[in-house]
Amino acid sequence: EIPHPTLCVSCADFKKAAKAVMPRKSYIYASTSANTGHSLRTNLDDWGRINFRPRVMRDVGDVDTRRAIFGHSSLYPFYISPMGTLGAIHSGAEPEMVRGAVRKGAHMVVSTASSKSAEQIMQTFHDEQTRLKNASPTQLFYQFYMPVDRKRAVALMHIVKKCGYKGLWITVDTPVLGKRTADRVLQAEETLAVGLEEESTAEWEAAEENAFSPAFGGRVVAGQLSPHTTWRDLAWIRKEWDGPIVLKGIQCAEDAKLACEYGCDGILLSNHGGRQLHTAPSALMTLLEIRTYCPEIIGKMEIFLDGGLRDGSDVLKALCLGATAVGVGRPFLYALAAYGSKGVERCVDVLADELALGMRLLGVTALDQLRPEMVNASRLLNE
Ligand code: FNR
Repeated sequence: EIPHPTLCVSCADFKKAAKAVMPRKSYIYASTSANTGHSLRTNLDDWGRINFRPRVMRDVGDVDTRRAIFGHSSLYPFYISPMGTLGAIHSGAEPEMVRGAVRKGAHMVVSTASSKSAEQIMQTFHDEQTRLKNASPTQLFYQFYMPVDRKRAVALMHIVKKCGYKGLWITVDTPVLGKRTADRVLQAEETLAVGLEEESTAEWEAAEENAFSPAFGGRVVAGQLSPHTTWRDLAWIRKEWDGPIVLKGIQCAEDAKLACEYGCDGILLSNHGGRQLHTAPSALMTLLEIRTYCPEIIGKMEIFLDGGLRDGSDVLKALCLGATAVGVGRPFLYALAAYGSKGVERCVDVLADELALGMRLLGVTALDQLRPEMVNASRLLNE
């Protein structure tokens, strides 16, 4: 028995509800992070280590939370982060997440490692839009894992383009999969239980055959990702993809600057939800670094950020410091697990409500009024 979705009033409540209904294996997949879990904890904690500097005595009767990503207006400055294998989370998988997003006017980035194909997910998007008489501003973007085989990469990009995804989020923090500690224990337990060396070899072969294919459950496994991708590859990617390109997983000022020099349309500061490099910086830390070492790039590219955002006020802090919009991952995954698309809708509402409330208490009525001086990051910077 899980509580009615309206009893979920914060992101933490979705996690509690999800834990009660999710099979252990799925819960481990969702909640797992790299090594000791330090990066994940840092992601969560750093938002609480900077404070607001609110302004008072301002008319905050009406607030407007709209924000555009590459010209596509959304009702909110947050989007649903790409997460693979949602079929392991809810029987409706990615289409169920899309329905929730469209009904609420939130953008979503679809993972290469999805359980359903790029076409099927886009079809659900269109069906839901038609049902709503195209009234929703929601758009879908596509997260791209670089396959080992270039031909396969090009073919996938063409499919994505043909489907009408509005931008390519190329994940650059995963040349190899990080050490997902809890996942490894689970795998080892399974291997011991069934005594199966051969099966894991068969799995590897299937992975090679069907890199990222929904038939394989969309799960990314070792051997599928290309560890050879470099800045020079952006040239051919540009030839195959004429829409916006965002590099997902920028973790220091130097690379942010390089992305700008290479003409990327956006960067996403992220440590992959703490699932890749042990003790990688939080996105907030990287944004502060950019503000110190290359502030000129803010405004030249769209800057996104994700990791550990669990409250509308976290979103506001990121925007004060120059982010265009932010990605929210696990809260939406847990909401989907517990309640399907209704949970996704509820999670959007919870974040949107906190966001509007935070704006009023901070003394702003529109997101373009947010300024760096509205936060005090000295504790984080001086420690
Ligand atoms: C992810 N993430 C991810 N990123 C990506 O580029 N491609 C992917 O397929 C996935 N898959 C994935 C699965 C699961 C279960 C999680 C939790 C995360 C990372 C994701 O896009 C994002 O960077 C983080 O999840 C953001 O952090 P929070 O909001 O989950 O703390």
